Amino acid sequence: MVDADPTEHAGATGPVEATSALNVEVLTIFPEVVESYCSASIIGRARRSGLLDLKVHDLREATKDPHRSVDDSPFGGGAGMVLAPGPVFAAVEKAQPVRPLYLCSPGGRRFDQAMAAELAAGSFSLLCGRYEGVDQRVVDHLVDGEISIGDYVLAGGELAALVIIEAVARLVPGVVGNEASVLDDSFTTGLLEYPQYTRPAEFRGWTVPEVLRGGDHGRIARWRHAEALRRTLERRPDLIAARGGLSGVEVQLLLEHGYPVGAVEASQAQRPGSAGAAASEERDLP
Ligand code: ADE
Repeated sequence: MVDADPTEHAGATGPVEATSALNVEVLTIFPEVVESYCSASIIGRARRSGLLDLKVHDLREATKDPHRSVDDSPFGGGAGMVLAPGPVFAAVEKAQPVRPLYLCSPGGRRFDQAMAAELAAGSFSLLCGRYEGVDQRVVDHLVDGEISIGDYVLAGGELAALVIIEAVARLVPGVVGNEASVLDDSFTTGLLEYPQYTRPAEFRGWTVPEVLRGGDHGRIARWRHAEALRRTLERRPDLIAARGGLSGVEVQLLLEHGYPVGAVEASQAQRPGSAGAAASEERDLP
């Protein structure tokens, strides 16, 4: 098996510069399910506008038996059925999908925003596993890698493929109307996203924060940054740790926006090898 790791050279996690359409191919025993989802909304629009070239192949396409079977019982016994190598190799050899070809499987490398950005820089194919598993020879000799969308087991790889396609397609310039919204996304900045509000300014007695209604864009940017930091510290302190803790300016920003001093100090103390000093100043405010 080729050792293809889409995270290996992960760098930026925002939109990538694409010179041509993103080319994605999917092999599945439920082509209609994948087609249906990928005809709607953002993905459908991206396909129609030529930014995403998505082809869906039926894994049963190359079967020769009357039942068009793709599975068989496992050697050694055990529950369930295993996707057999014959039909899978035949389907891949017939379709000749663009490489790298990744098997969607819970045993694969964990998908995240950095991997989405890496995949958006090129073209790739996804093979949807099914049943209780996939014959190991498919993993060893046919695909280029495996991707998991999380530590849980789905009935098949179709939902995983859709998750991957949507997360990757959003990063192709032009797919999401407002590119700035992709740059602000949770995880693209390494932080959870700040809270968003729309009209009305007051709903059932709950009001939109005053700062957002004031029109002072500098103040709004600082408030949003502080809110993103506050949320991330409270809900995903691991993300703060992964980016090397808070910078001095970020600590200051949190304190200015009323985040408890004790909580800020506690988060700084958790930084590996930190006595609370400023982290990289690159992330500091504009
Ligand atoms: N197929 C079944 N479970 C999966 C998961 N967690 N990720 C990717 N493909 C899967």
